[in-house]
Amino acid sequence: MGNKQTENQYNKEHNEKMLDCLIIENRNQIEVLIRKAGRVSKEYSFLTPPIGKGKYSEIRKIINKKTGIMRAVKIIQKNVSNKIEGKIINEINTLELLDHPNIVRVNEYFSDDRFHYIITEYYSGGELIDHIDKQRVFTETQAAKIIYVLLYTINYCHKKQICHREIKLENILFDRNSEDSLPILIDFGSCSKMDHKMTSQPNHPYFQAPELILGNYHSGVDIWAIGVILYLLLCGYPPFRGKTDELIIKSVIRHEVEFDDPEWDNTSEEAKNLIVKLLQKDPNRRMTAEMALNDIWILKNYELKVFDGLIKRVVTNLATFQASSRLQEATLKLMVQFLATREELSELRVVFMHIDTKLDGVLDQDELQAVMLKYYDQSFVHQQINKICQHPLTYSTFLTRSVDRQTMLQKSKIETAFKLIDRNGSGNISVEELQDTFKVCNAETENPWSEIMTEVDSNQDGSLSLLEFNQMMRQLLIQ
Ligand SMILES: Nc1ncnc2c1ncn2[C@@H]1O[C@H](COP(=O)(O)OP(=O)(O)OP(=O)(O)O)[C@@H](O)[C@H]1O
Ligand SMILES: [Mg+2]
Repeated sequence: MGNKQTENQYNKEHNEKMLDCLIIENRNQIEVLIRKAGRVSKEYSFLTPPIGKGKYSEIRKIINKKTGIMRAVKIIQKNVSNKIEGKIINEINTLELLDHPNIVRVNEYFSDDRFHYIITEYYSGGELIDHIDKQRVFTETQAAKIIYVLLYTINYCHKKQICHREIKLENILFDRNSEDSLPILIDFGSCSKMDHKMTSQPNHPYFQAPELILGNYHSGVDIWAIGVILYLLLCGYPPFRGKTDELIIKSVIRHEVEFDDPEWDNTSEEAKNLIVKLLQKDPNRRMTAEMALNDIWILKNYELKVFDGLIKRVVTNLATFQASSRLQEATLKLMVQFLATREELSELRVVFMHIDTKLDGVLDQDELQAVMLKYYDQSFVHQQINKICQHPLTYSTFLTRSVDRQTMLQKSKIETAFKLIDRNGSGNISVEELQDTFKVCNAETENPWSEIMTEVDSNQDGSLSLLEFNQMMRQLLIQ
């Protein structure tokens, strides 16, 4: 009990600290706007057939007409019911809040009379369920990688007071089709703020915790679902089974998890122990994500392999990044969001996870200092650290500052970024177009936009030409 109280107190303080940092970091900062005005079909071509289908939704691949890059779009019918409308508003609001290497990244949101369109990165590696169908069972090392990433991701969600509530095989995708691809958690349509009373029963019965079935629960339901997935990965079938949903539910409530079948003969006791702790029926005694991340089985079986040269390159990019204006950094963020390739993002994703030793989904001074000291001497690190990291770096800020600038700031890419902002194609970026593309967080002045424009509009004519835009962005190559 004492431990639980200390842990809750720690979590509360940690959350408050994280929130403070984000508010301070955000003050007057420019962010890329997600909610867009205008017609989606002007900006994207839709591909057929759909890659996913729900009762009122459809997921398709689409191509951005200006960048040529493929995305996924979730299209949801409007005016079906208040419940569906609430689900979609919940999903977009939550995705805007979440900024994590293993959570689906939302790029844009459009809406017209008939549909909502949530545009996200496209992940080509398939659903976890397809991998299980193909492979049947996983080695403990393979399973540990998936479970570690799920725990790491859900730890971040829970620290942000968000409970996913629908962790299942179809909602876990792989970023690409390769041996070293990583899981990505999608589908936040059923998620809930943890300070709300949670009583509804989302998810498939296979993954439902006993207290979720009984209709009064907390964030432990996500941990239970991860326990079910670990069991499934190691033997190929779920722990609680039945021919109908009703029978599965009965089994979840009545039975304890068992390892009697021969499939389990060669599985380590440590793996079974972790499963038992994740599938603890009493949610108050179930592990938290943070506790599970430090479990002996995870520590023994999980290792993130990162090429040393890659870490050094990323750390050098971070150490030498210096923006001369807010718009310059925000535009680079836009370029990463719209133009970075899947390979570039996959590399940076792994380095972020490597640096994030506190496993909270942001990079603070201690973590950055520790990784820098491997490559630079102490005096350089102490000199640079305050400049690099005044506030903990969020994932998207990390991507912006660590992306390879020689590649990202090629002339053709700068021109494409210009076209993305110059939405009416006039050849000049106006203040209004800046407002349609970016937002100022917690602005201290009433109209910050003319000031932002003045910082970069060298001929002071009130708009940005391609020449001025190019000059602004290429300054980032000089440091
Ligand atoms: N970004 C993406 N990249 C690739 N495939 C995707 C992406 N988003 C969704 N999909 C595919 O579409 C399926 C459905 O997506 P999602 O779970 O978001 O929709 P849904 O309508 O909420 O479905 P349900 O509620 O039935 O789980 C996924 O299981 C996946 O196969
Ligand atoms: Mg889904």
